[in-house]
Formats: sequence, structure tokens, C-alpha cells
Amino acid sequence: MAVITGDLNLALFREFDLRDHLSKYPVDALLEVELENYGEVGAKRVVDRWATVNPGNTVPFVAELDDLLRLHHLVLSRNVTTVLEFGTGYSTTVFADALAINDQQDAGFVERELRRSNPFEVHSVDNDADWIEAARSRLPEVLTSRVYFHHCPLEVGEFSGRLCTYYRGVPNLAPDLIYLDGPDQFSATGDLRGLTTAHPDRMPMAADVLVFEHFLTPGALLVVDGRTANARFLAANLQRNWVHWHAEEYDQHFFELTETPLGPYNARQIEHCLGKDFKSRLIA
Ligand SMILES: C[S@@+](CC[C@H](N)C(=O)[O-])C[C@H]1O[C@@H](n2cnc3c(N)ncnc32)[C@H](O)[C@@H]1O
Repeated sequence: MAVITGDLNLALFREFDLRDHLSKYPVDALLEVELENYGEVGAKRVVDRWATVNPGNTVPFVAELDDLLRLHHLVLSRNVTTVLEFGTGYSTTVFADALAINDQQDAGFVERELRRSNPFEVHSVDNDADWIEAARSRLPEVLTSRVYFHHCPLEVGEFSGRLCTYYRGVPNLAPDLIYLDGPDQFSATGDLRGLTTAHPDRMPMAADVLVFEHFLTPGALLVVDGRTANARFLAANLQRNWVHWHAEEYDQHFFELTETPLGPYNARQIEHCLGKDFKSRLIA
């Protein structure tokens, strides 16, 4: 069992074009982004990386439409049923919108054929109550019932003796998409024999996924936004068969749990959600 490096680009983005997706699904309107003033949709925003990790920052980041459109596409193209995200924000709205589309299309099949206790729900974990409120107030009314915000304090901890952080009170779920886009490295309380992540030259190091990795079902996808040190830490410590791809162009890490199905429910979910292609990606 191991994490291997593989090119997931075709598997994830074969049928994806940013502008086509935007014209079909006006995610900009959902996020109240004014396209006329936004500039080139595919261009990377100039994001102040310090602001994104500074817990004292109260100035909202701008929405990064390219990343958000890719997330929207992943939920639709993989027929995702349950999202768990770490780090609330614009992505919460985008996940909820995509799951509402899947719900309309798939509700009957999922209820009849699969074992999913949290169908078409987004569970969003954050340690900052103010940013949770900001995300909640931005949610269109029609999406509120499928979004569950979890205000979870952040604590310094260890994984096999190594310094990392954990959120306390992460919901007990079986997500088929996990999005890791939080926390910052400064907000955790406590220390490990005096060590913390809270230094400007250190980086976030969330280990939550490692603790429940063995409950995830084959076909699950983990997306890590930036956070390359954290993604490498996960790659070094995940124990099951994952394919890992770093999309350097837009600095996101993708880990797909590429194992044979656990049983009939999981097999049906894989066939319905990921199609026959998934078999070709299985690790021997
Ligand atoms: C990288 S942000 C998460 C962004 C979110 N996943 C998204 O795609 O919009 C990391 C942390 O910043 C805070 N945050 C959320 N939205 C924010 C915003 N618009 N501006 C600044 N900080 C934000 C939250 O506490 C969050 O955990």
C-alpha cells in the first residue's frame, strides 16, 4: 500500500474548459463577482499569500474563479454526493450549488441504490467564527439547507510524533470529496513540547485526514489547495493506495483513493459516479 505519483489530469479534467463551464454554470453570479471588472477568467489572481495565512487579516480575499470553477466541475463530473471541506469561504457556496445540481439529477438513484447518509450535503469546518458568518451570509437562500458549518477550535497535535494541527469536532461522515483549504498556521492553541506551527516561515500542517483515512471508501478524492508542505506530509503518511498528482500550473494537489471496491454499495457508487475509467486507474 502506498501513495504513488500519477498523472490524474486526463481523469479529472478531460472534458473541462473554464469558459465553457462558466457559460453553462454562471458561478460568477452566485459569488457576486462582476465579470467586467474581474479580468481574464483563466489567469491566476495576484493573491497576497501572507494575507491568506495571516489570522489577523480582516480584508476579504477576492474569489479565484478558475479554482472555483474547477471545484464545481469536479463535483459534477464525479457525481459527488458528500463534501467535507476544511476552510470555509467562496468554495462552500460553489460546492453547495454543484451538489444541488447532482441532487436534482441523482436523488432517486442515490436513495435507492447507494448507502449515503449525508447525500448532497456540504460540511464546512473552520476555526474562525467570523469567516463562517461571512460565508453563511453570502449563501443564496436556496442553498442554505444543504450546508452545515462546523465551528471547530484548532489545536496543535502530533502524528507519529510529528508536529501538526487538528480541528476539534470534525463531523463524522464518509465524504467522497475532501477539500483542504484551511487552516492558517497561526491559530492553533497548545504546543508539542514547546513546538508550534506559528512562525511566518513555517506552514500549515493539517493531519485530520490521516486520522480517518481508513474509513474513506475507494473512489474518494482529496484536493489540497496550495499547501505543498502539507500535501507532502500527507503523501508521506497516508497508508492506502492513493494516486497523487500535483497540478503545478494552478498549484493544487489531487489524491484519488484508487482501490478495488469494498463491497456492492461501494461498487455501485464507483460505477455510477466514476464510470468504467476508474478500473483502469486501479493500482495492481
Ligand atoms: C484559504 S481561506 C479558505 C478559502 C475557501 N476555501 C475558499 O475557497 O473561498 C483559509 C481561511 O481564511 C478564512 N477566510 C475565509 N474566507 C475568507 C475571505 N474571503 N477572506 C479572507 N479570509 C477568509 C477562513 O477562516 C478560512 O479557513
